[in-house]
Amino acid sequence: MAIQRIQSKWAKTAVLLRSEHIRRYIPLTLRFNRNTLKTMLEHYGMVYVKPDSGSFGLGVIRVDKLSTEIKPYKFQVSERIRRYSTFDGLYKALLSTQKGRAYIVQRGIALLQHENRRFDLRVMVQHNEIGEWETTGIIGRLGHPAKIVTNYHSGGTPLPIATLLSTHMSEAEQTELSNRLSQLGLDTAKTLQARYPRIKEIGVDVAIDYELRPWILEVNTRPDPFIFRKLGDPSVFNRIYRYCVGYGRYRRKIR
Ligand SMILES: Nc1ncnc2c1ncn2[C@@H]1O[C@H](COP(=O)(O)OP(=O)(O)O)[C@@H](O)[C@H]1O
Ligand SMILES: [Mg+2]
Repeated sequence: MAIQRIQSKWAKTAVLLRSEHIRRYIPLTLRFNRNTLKTMLEHYGMVYVKPDSGSFGLGVIRVDKLSTEIKPYKFQVSERIRRYSTFDGLYKALLSTQKGRAYIVQRGIALLQHENRRFDLRVMVQHNEIGEWETTGIIGRLGHPAKIVTNYHSGGTPLPIATLLSTHMSEAEQTELSNRLSQLGLDTAKTLQARYPRIKEIGVDVAIDYELRPWILEVNTRPDPFIFRKLGDPSVFNRIYRYCVGYGRYRRKIR
């Protein structure tokens, strides 16, 4: 049986929201429309607007409402920034960017920074050789300085989490956070599997805010194993790849 993949961010979020435990980690997420955008932007001041079935950070939009400016409404997609004096001006411009595709709107999280660049974390969770879920790796992704996404395919740099977290927390706190994220990854996999029985691997994108609180931004069902090759320790990637071969994502071993 083929590995199950789910594209729709909205569908995956809806499943996760059913879990009392996991829903606390999910920033408010709604289907994008004029109303949800306006309400959430007024409330949070910063939101992310994302294609429902996008990946690689493509088409992801950050929208800000700044109280101090003459043109308070601002959005950024890739490296392009636009400003508007009215909500309607902003909304019209967003619609033309979207070209009729379905979008979601999510509360924006102020990501922790490292050397003035934002970063988030990727938690890899896989079916292991005895058919149990296992968290096989956690890696940091440092965003390109001019962009609002951290994806490797949008110019982000994969880095060990210690490199990114050490100025923000002690070693003991880092250990505690990675244990917590490993467990959250397992819980997320099990919750999704209850609805999607044939998933074998997930990659959870986790934001850490300035209160050091983790948030699940999205869950990928086709996570890229190869970013883990960038870690100094090859044993992490080797195990990840071995599990991929085990559930049939790749045919043979590579070095
Ligand atoms: N709510 C958010 N708050 C802050 N940053 C976000 C938010 N949502 C997404 N991002 C940033 O954009 C990146 C891409 O968003 P994501 O939802 O993972 O879509 P994709 O499927 O394109 O990877 C994230 O890794 C993160 O860097
Ligand atoms: Mg992502």
